[in-house]
Amino acid sequence: MTNSNSRQSEYPVDPLFLDRWSPRAFDGGAMPHEHLLTILDAAHWAPSASNQQPWRFVYAHKDSENWPLFVELLVEANQRWAKNASVLLFVISRSYNISREGEKKPSGTHSFDAGAAWFSLAMQAHLLGYHAHGMAGILKDQIVEKLDVPDGYKVEAAVAIGTMTDKGVLPDDLAEREVPSKRLPLSDVAFEGRFIVKAD
Ligand SMILES: Cc1cc2nc3c(=O)[nH]c(=O)nc-3n(C[C@H](O)[C@H](O)[C@H](O)COP(=O)(O)O)c2cc1C
Repeated sequence: MTNSNSRQSEYPVDPLFLDRWSPRAFDGGAMPHEHLLTILDAAHWAPSASNQQPWRFVYAHKDSENWPLFVELLVEANQRWAKNASVLLFVISRSYNISREGEKKPSGTHSFDAGAAWFSLAMQAHLLGYHAHGMAGILKDQIVEKLDVPDGYKVEAAVAIGTMTDKGVLPDDLAEREVPSKRLPLSDVAFEGRFIVKAD
């Protein structure tokens, strides 16, 4: 087992996996652009089916011209805390593959691949001393319209990245929840040989 970040794994996983978590208390500071590009570079080294690299990222730095719009594209519950991040970005995936002959074919894995990229992004952010917090609470139709997302692309999620600070900056209800979460027992999610319905 590994103990780290008030979490305990069942097996000796690297502490890195326990130390990454999704806080909401961010200090509102600026992130050097070089750091953001390093984080996105890591994300796009993720594996993808046939190396199609279907992920796309649209970002805004805090206090940039686009920042107010990016905050507005989150549901209110997320705006409350994510407005203090250093960067907001949307993860978008291309829903088709392009064959060697240049034909477009529906992709069965674009969301899975984009998920791998998001996790790489989160880990690189962590390694640079930041925290990344994924968000499904976003206004997808408005994102498509306002950010010019073309047909054939799916808005997957948003990510807030920033420097964690004291939970005292949060409204009380969010401050109470500002602790690294636990996980289901491994035996509820990993099965030998056949699927077993658990944790339902
Ligand atoms: C795709 C995705 C969507 C999420 N959506 C939200 C969200 O809209 N608002 C929020 O506060 N947290 C959101 N989260 C954060 C999760 O609640 C969090 O990752 C989960 O509880 C596990 O905690 P940990 O990341 O601290 O380990 C999201 C995370 C992911 C990966």
